[in-house]
Amino acid sequence: MGFHPKMLMIIITLFEIFCSSLSDTSGNASFDQNYYITWGQNRVLFFRNKREVQLSLDQYSGGGFASKAYYGSGFFQMRIKLPARDSSGVVTAFYLNLNGGVHDELDFEFLGNRPGRSIILQTNVFANGLGGREQRTLLWFFIDDIPIRVYKNDVVTGRIGYPHRALQVVVSLWDGSNWATDGGKSKANWSNAPFQAHFQDFNIDGCPSNPNSPNKDCYSTKYWWNKKKYWHLNHRQMRDYENVRRKYMNYDYCTDRNRYPVAPPECHDV
Ligand SMILES: *[C@@H]1O[C@H](CO)[C@@H](O)[C@H](O)[C@H]1NC(C)=O
Ligand SMILES: *[C@@H]1O[C@H](CO)[C@@H](O)[C@H](O)[C@H]1NC(C)=O
Repeated sequence: MGFHPKMLMIIITLFEIFCSSLSDTSGNASFDQNYYITWGQNRVLFFRNKREVQLSLDQYSGGGFASKAYYGSGFFQMRIKLPARDSSGVVTAFYLNLNGGVHDELDFEFLGNRPGRSIILQTNVFANGLGGREQRTLLWFFIDDIPIRVYKNDVVTGRIGYPHRALQVVVSLWDGSNWATDGGKSKANWSNAPFQAHFQDFNIDGCPSNPNSPNKDCYSTKYWWNKKKYWHLNHRQMRDYENVRRKYMNYDYCTDRNRYPVAPPECHDV
């Protein structure tokens, strides 16, 4: 469970059930301080002095934004309100990514669903160009402070790939009708468009770095998220994490023997 020497911790809050303990770390940055719009310019609306952004999706376009900087380590969070009602086929993505070169990526994709059914959070990890590490968790809509995915940085044997490049924070709302809900069988119903997602909290606690030559200083314990107490989950977090895996995880690549007749190495010592 150790993260040393680099950790990427991500907190996503569904902001109708805002958790007060988060306000310690959440600031009041304006969108423009840390982010810029990457696509779908006319599907983006700002509120509250650019402290809140709405992305819209219709059958012609979605929209997205990304951080201006790349980060070698950090604590990344965002308050996200997902599209309401029937959101089949609609994907709300929050991820860390480096495009070009060898691919490193940490994905959080909220997969929309039919009315009355759980939104599913799909996570994935790409390291040194290798992905295919999907896990899916049914959201019970109270996820603040509860770890849902841990990916170990195996510094001892070095057998397990780990994202070592500086990554950019990327957010988008897009049409995943061909795969996201019921394996692509439940598609976006465009008579309910536009689908809308809202985002708040544009602060980033990160160590900026050139994407092509990661800044070694980013591993320093002068950054609070690198301190030893964050290298492992504490007892409460471990209990919650195991509970989530037992009760809410509905897909795990580690146990998918059709895909992986032999489980990948990182699956053995979670
Ligand atoms: C955040 O900034 C906005 C715009 O400057 C201001 O109206 C608001 O009161 C601030 N909120 C907090 C909690 O500081
Ligand atoms: C699409 O949405 C419309 C309006 O809400 C509804 O009448 C229709 O039944 C929906 N179609 C499907 C296939 O769910």
